[in-house]
Amino acid sequence: MSTSNPASTAAPLVEVNGIEVIYNHVILVLKGVSLQVPHQSIVALLGGNGAGKTTTLRAISNLLKGERGEVTKGGITLEGEQIANLSPAELVKRGVVQVMEGRHCFAHLTIEENLLTGSYTRSDKGEIAANLEKVYTYFPRLKTRRTSQAAYTSGGEQQMCAIGRALMSNPRMVLLDEPSMGLAPQIVDEVFHIVKDLNDKEKVTFLLAEQNTNMALKYADYGYIMESGRIVMDGSARDLASNEDVKEFYLGVGRSEDGHERKSFKDVKSYKRRKRWLA
Ligand SMILES: Nc1ncnc2c1ncn2[C@@H]1O[C@H](COP(=O)(O)OP(=O)(O)O)[C@@H](O)[C@H]1O
Ligand SMILES: [Mg+2]
Repeated sequence: MSTSNPASTAAPLVEVNGIEVIYNHVILVLKGVSLQVPHQSIVALLGGNGAGKTTTLRAISNLLKGERGEVTKGGITLEGEQIANLSPAELVKRGVVQVMEGRHCFAHLTIEENLLTGSYTRSDKGEIAANLEKVYTYFPRLKTRRTSQAAYTSGGEQQMCAIGRALMSNPRMVLLDEPSMGLAPQIVDEVFHIVKDLNDKEKVTFLLAEQNTNMALKYADYGYIMESGRIVMDGSARDLASNEDVKEFYLGVGRSEDGHERKSFKDVKSYKRRKRWLA
C-alpha cells in the first residue's frame, strides 16, 4: 500500500458503497447501504433490533461467511482499496478488528489470558507486553481482575475485556457491536468514556453499532440511522441529537423496554426518505 498516494490519504479510512447482503442465498437483508468512516472518528450506526447493523459490521470485517451470508452488490474499501476478499485475519493485520455482539470472552480463561489471545497476529513479546500494560492503563478494572476467570467477572468487565482483547492487535479501527447491551447505564457511560479516550489519545477509529441512541450520540462524531436494511438518515451527532424526528423516535418512548410498540421511522411526520439512499 502506497502512503504517498494522495488519493489514499484523502479517502476515508473505511467506505461502504451501496452494499447488498444476502443470507442463505435468498434472504436480502442489506438493500444498498453506504457509509463512510473518516480517519480517527467515532461513527455510530444506529437503529432498532433487526435493522441490519450487525450485518453491516460483519460485511466490513468479512465475518459473513460463517453466517452463510455474502455481499452480492457494492464494495467496501479501506483507504481506497477494496477489502472484500481479505480474510478476517488479514484485516486484523491491516488494523481492522471487530468486537462481536454479546462480548464473547472465553469463560474459562482469565482476563489476562483473554487479552493475550487478541495478540495472535503478532509475535514480538516485548511489544505484546507493552500493549498489555497500555490496555491496563485504559481499563484499570481489568488490571485488578487480571487473574480472575472471565466467567466470574461482571458484564461490564467482560465487555471491557472484549474491547481490550481487540486492542491487543494494535488496531487502527475497531468495529464495536452493541457494547451497551445488558449493561447498567453508569457502566455504559464508563465503557463509552474509555472508547472516547482511546479515540482521542491513541487515535483509534470506531464504528459503533448501537440501539442506545442517546449514549452513542453523546460520544460519536457522526451517526447513521438504519431501518430495514437501509440507511434512512445521517448527520453529525450533534445534529442528530437535536433533530426532532430522532428525538421523537429514538430518544423518547421508542427506546423504552416496556414493550411499547415502535412506529417506523418512516412514519414520523416530517421524515422524508432521502433519494440518494434508494437502491
Ligand atoms: N445468519 C443469518 N441468517 C439469516 N438471517 C439473518 C442472519 N443474521 C441476521 N439475519 C437477519 O438479518 C436482519 C438484520 O439482522 P442484524 O444485522 O443482526 O440486525 P441488527 O444488528 O441491527 O439487530 C434481521 O432480519 C435478521 O433476522
Ligand atoms: Mg446486532
